[in-house]
Amino acid sequence: MRRLRRSERFRKLVRETRLTPETMIYPIFVCPGTNVRNEIGSMPGQYNLSIDNAVKVAREAEKAGIAGVLLFGIPREKDELGSEAYAADGIVQDALRAMRENVRDLLLISDVCLCEYTSHGHCGLVRHGDVENDSTLRLLAESALSHVRAGADMVAPSDMMDGRVLAIRRQLDSEGYDGIPIMAYSAKYASGFYGPFREAAGSTPQFGDRRSYQMDPPNAREAMREIELDIAEGADIVMVKPALAYLDIIARARESFDVPLAAYQVSGEYAMIEAASRAGWIERDRIIMEATTAIKRAGADIIITYYALELAGRL
Ligand code: PBG
Repeated sequence: MRRLRRSERFRKLVRETRLTPETMIYPIFVCPGTNVRNEIGSMPGQYNLSIDNAVKVAREAEKAGIAGVLLFGIPREKDELGSEAYAADGIVQDALRAMRENVRDLLLISDVCLCEYTSHGHCGLVRHGDVENDSTLRLLAESALSHVRAGADMVAPSDMMDGRVLAIRRQLDSEGYDGIPIMAYSAKYASGFYGPFREAAGSTPQFGDRRSYQMDPPNAREAMREIELDIAEGADIVMVKPALAYLDIIARARESFDVPLAAYQVSGEYAMIEAASRAGWIERDRIIMEATTAIKRAGADIIITYYALELAGRL
């Protein structure tokens, strides 16, 4: 076996998995104001950006040849109903319009969820202390529609309400947007790895947790059912999230389904690499390559990663 490991030339020749910028998506957190660039404490190197600066980053992403950006919004105001999630002049809608004017060869993808916009921080409407499913669907569909009207090329529902892919598909179709694909966060686990994101987006639930709608980490078969349902409802791309602690789910999804598969290397995965690197305990660049390559090797076609920009520069 060692004959083909003798030099980097040989190793490259027989390499089975390759990272490419065209299959990477870069998440961006858009916040109110102008010329804002606030570093996220638990995600060094990642920022809350006002629209003007977010547009600059989108241009960089376009130049780097990355597939697209995934937009999250930090709203001007939060309320019980998450109104800014589906307002025509919400933060993400404004950002989409600004980016649409400034980039051409970059997919603008919007995260569809209520948690950044609700005062209670849950992904759906809350009644009697419970996160309601069906009454939330209409608002998610409205959010998706408002994003597409503002220029989104694709919408990505991350809320984990049952039936949201179908609700969004129907809404988009009925308004003439039948050509807009849905990338569904299908197997999204109730994970401790989202901690830093919640700091970035200010979306920590004010009571309880997300276990009544996101998946229970010990379950694998259930993830296949989630994916199957999303495909039946019209998902064009399905996603597993988080990535590194769920490589078995990625591999299983790859075996079981023929639709494009995305994996989200989430905030906690990023934070752990950054923290250990800063402490001098691991080789940063090497581990970033190893972790992202592993996600592809497991079967992901697409990686959503905070390292997308940096990796594109390196590849
Ligand atoms: C919103 C959402 C979350 C993430 C993506 N969309 C947070 C959550 O579900 O609590 C996490 C992304 C990350 O950790 O990088 N529902």
